[in-house]
Amino acid sequence: MSLGQTNAPWIARELSKLVVVGHVDHGKSTLIGRLLYDTDSLPEGKFEELKATSERRGMPLEWSFVLDAFQAERDQAVTIDTTQIWFKTAKRDYVIIDAPGHKEFLKNMVTGAANADTALLTVDAREGVREQTRRHGYILHIIGVKQVAVAVNKIDLVDYDEARFNEVAREVTQYLNDIGVEPSFIVPISARDGDNIARRSAQTPWYEGTTLLEALDSFRVTTLPIDQPLRFPVQDVYKFDDRRLIAGRVESGVLRVGDTLMFSPSNKTAQVGSIEAWNQDPKPVEARAGESVAITLTEQLFLERGELASHEENPPRLTTVFKGRVFWFGNEPLTAGKTLSMKLTTNRARVTVQAIESVIDTDNLAHRPSDEVHRNEVAEVILRSKQVLAVDEFRDIMRTGRFVLLDGYDTVAGGVLSMEGYPDQRRALSVKSSNVYSVEHRVSAEARAQRNGHRGGVLWFTGLSGAGKSTLAMEVEQRLFRKGYHVYVLDGDNVRRGLNANLGFSPDDRAENIRRVGEAAALFADAGLIVITAFISPYRADRERARAAGRGAFHEIYVDADLEICEQRDPKGLYKKARSGEIKDFTGISAPYETPIDPELMVNTSNSAVDTCAEQIVDYVSRVFSLDDRSLRQTG
Ligand code: ADX
Repeated sequence: MSLGQTNAPWIARELSKLVVVGHVDHGKSTLIGRLLYDTDSLPEGKFEELKATSERRGMPLEWSFVLDAFQAERDQAVTIDTTQIWFKTAKRDYVIIDAPGHKEFLKNMVTGAANADTALLTVDAREGVREQTRRHGYILHIIGVKQVAVAVNKIDLVDYDEARFNEVAREVTQYLNDIGVEPSFIVPISARDGDNIARRSAQTPWYEGTTLLEALDSFRVTTLPIDQPLRFPVQDVYKFDDRRLIAGRVESGVLRVGDTLMFSPSNKTAQVGSIEAWNQDPKPVEARAGESVAITLTEQLFLERGELASHEENPPRLTTVFKGRVFWFGNEPLTAGKTLSMKLTTNRARVTVQAIESVIDTDNLAHRPSDEVHRNEVAEVILRSKQVLAVDEFRDIMRTGRFVLLDGYDTVAGGVLSMEGYPDQRRALSVKSSNVYSVEHRVSAEARAQRNGHRGGVLWFTGLSGAGKSTLAMEVEQRLFRKGYHVYVLDGDNVRRGLNANLGFSPDDRAENIRRVGEAAALFADAGLIVITAFISPYRADRERARAAGRGAFHEIYVDADLEICEQRDPKGLYKKARSGEIKDFTGISAPYETPIDPELMVNTSNSAVDTCAEQIVDYVSRVFSLDDRSLRQTG
């Protein structure tokens, strides 16, 4: 890392990072060789060498030999830089990152080791779209390369036929559009003969578009994400005299002296005191995306590597669960329950695969359910970590929304992150009130229990809509009441008409719904009542927080019923509306439900009658909430 490095003014030329992809034998290597030749970028003497070799072997000039020569050098090379191939046009420099044929190629792409801004997809005019055309196209989509040019190669071998070109162009466009990639240019070329690469070909008079190099030159060299919200992951904290230097790379946005930074997930804030640079005088006052810097803060915070700094108004999300779209390289298949190590910028965390939602067939884009993900497959998985992670939606901020998974020391997957269906836990985790002091009650919990004849507590019903939570809650309330218990039901539909009338069903709103109810229920329990809550409460993290609020008096009761049965019951006709798309984010249909792992009690309404389930719960209550002699004596 170099400190205080800025965009050096003496680098006047733009640099585009290009990746060349396509099905095997569709001409990637030949095209690269030709691009180098046509742009006069071959190393001194290379062309003559190539010609001599071809003549010696009595073969026509083979452009892909250029790449073979590079490969030979690469095999001996130690540094990664020499694996890169450069060429230049009048407009800018290009570096072809990594190279096809390299066995780590796809892995490097997906894990972000190679960050391309532009892609060149080659398709054989005779063969059209093939398996790797699709797979590579899909990877471009995953990693978010938006500037794509397609070279329909070997046009000479189809006699420069316009109709065939159009057919292949349509086929490629169709696939790419289906995955949300828009090819900006489709150029008929012959890599071997140089048609339409640097010069327009006389053989394709029907083609009115740009040459391949004009196409590449017309792309933007992706500018660094300076306009996006600030993200500055802490890479290291150094102690210097009495100062602490926080070092890292600004991944997006701009950081300025005087800015208040918020560090996630610790939620600490402090102002930027200075931006340090070894050889810059005066010191810089700002650092932009792409720059590696060290800063000091006006207040000493205890920070560790992996914290993510942002501005207060646009922070990352905090979560313990998220969706990942992963490309799996592991030799062993990925299965649910597996624990891996995750790298997310400078942060490292253990994550467990909660579920494999689907495996995506890159051939036809079908999502199929599967228990396993095999090598080179793409899958949608749910990942969970014990520690709270600061993340971004890949769609919004690429660098903080992509991750790598490791099994031991092996990189086994690269992926991009989505929080779709999951709440930002920041609201539940942050404490805003200050200068508040708790006041002691003079009536003890024991005294209340003694007067009531039972302890207070929370019976937390969770389950799908239609599982029977409300029905059971009201039934149990009545039975307990008749037995002399002080009991009250907090029901989702009721509470949402009052206390939580300002909340809907987005993941964030649900989390807040459960947070408030968890706190309210804990107060009821503290007051000595038995409170039954009937809320879907789909997220584990929210239920765990409700449990923590209930401090030992919380009992999770899983009201289990198969989704099919709930849907058949459909007491409010909501499943029907959810299926028709009339209701969005409907639990079980278009929003997740995380089943309890270790509930205190489980009742199943699919195969037991309400009566039976209610009895089970009442039994449980009489066992758990009764006052035994000992506690009566103590308070008596
Ligand atoms: S929770 O997810 O935030 O815990 P809650 O239990 O309060 O949900 O409310 C669920 C009730 O709201 C359901 O029984 C149903 O009647 C109604 N409802 C309306 N829209 C939805 C939706 N999108 N998903 C689930 N329930 C919904």
